[in-house]
Amino acid sequence: MRAIITEGGLPSVGERSEPQAQPGQVRIAVKAVSLNRGNLRQVAGSLVDVVGWDVAGVDARGRRVAALVDEGGFAEVVYAHPDRVAEIPDGVSFAQASALPVAALTALRCIRDHAQVLSGQRLLITGGAGGVGVFAVQMGAEIGARVTAVVGDDRKAAFVQDLGAHEAVVVARGASLSDVFEQRRFEAVLESAGGAWLAQSIRLLAPSGVVALFGNSSGDETTFNPRDLFGNSGRVHGFFLFRTPAPRTVGRDLEALLGRVAAGKLRVPIDRDYPFDEAPLAFEQLRARDVHGKIVLTL
Ligand SMILES: NC(=O)c1ccc[n+]([C@@H]2O[C@H](COP(=O)([O-])OP(=O)(O)OC[C@H]3O[C@@H](n4cnc5c(N)ncnc54)[C@H](OP(=O)(O)O)[C@@H]3O)[C@@H](O)[C@H]2O)c1
Repeated sequence: MRAIITEGGLPSVGERSEPQAQPGQVRIAVKAVSLNRGNLRQVAGSLVDVVGWDVAGVDARGRRVAALVDEGGFAEVVYAHPDRVAEIPDGVSFAQASALPVAALTALRCIRDHAQVLSGQRLLITGGAGGVGVFAVQMGAEIGARVTAVVGDDRKAAFVQDLGAHEAVVVARGASLSDVFEQRRFEAVLESAGGAWLAQSIRLLAPSGVVALFGNSSGDETTFNPRDLFGNSGRVHGFFLFRTPAPRTVGRDLEALLGRVAAGKLRVPIDRDYPFDEAPLAFEQLRARDVHGKIVLTL
């Protein structure tokens, strides 16, 4: 079967034998997959042979399904745990469905379960135009929070406002969130840039506020003053989808997300849909931070 494999820290399309099924797993003939920033790190570090977490395709019963898999998703065939599979409703494409698992589940669980964002609260989202960001912006706005999205340029600002952000703030690379937001405070911050922005996010919390921390896109270390956190009764809540509480409800959340898409309540912004064989170009576009929402590959 064709698969996106890791060769010397670079992605390429190659041949691999079909994986072996574990007992109870669901076989999926893959039709579309989506990229996540974490896949770049996996490939660069040659951490796995076949990368890929987000898949949509057809199962052995002929159902159209989407799934979250641990690895090996960027391939013509993958096996998924049944608790992490959901049927795709009519009106939702394979491409749309494949864009959801990692990004939309992360946004949902950070906002609903960890930050527990409420109507009327102020929510700051870094990386607002990215894969997780585009879902988080919509979910925050739907709850009734006042959503401020941090983005890298004016086009991304217009893009996230169209998705429902009340405000989009362009913060240049290397610039400080503290300088931009000064005395403003937020009940919740969804943070994934890491480095200095994480420390600055802690300082931007309203009393008893929470930083839902799910990424470190910068790769930088963070130095922060503990008083900024305990002096304000603040919290930093780490989140990793593959160590999520209630992992057996992943499929149920995915089903609910797919239902929201089918009902026209959740948009799936796909920046570009590449043929599977053009995977290296897709990875390069993501690496360059030149993406509005998600990148998808179709087989
Ligand atoms: N913990 C988990 O389970 C989990 C799940 C999903 C994602 N993640 C992590 O969360 C982060 C976002 O993931 P994603 O898939 O949404 O990524 P993405 O689609 O690439 O979006 C990331 C956004 O962050 C912004 N950004 C700010 N500083 C950046 C930096 N130093 N390097 C790269 N981008 C930067 C970029 O916007 P501008 O260029 O406009 O600034 C970009 O739009 C990644 O670090 C990813 O590994 C973790």
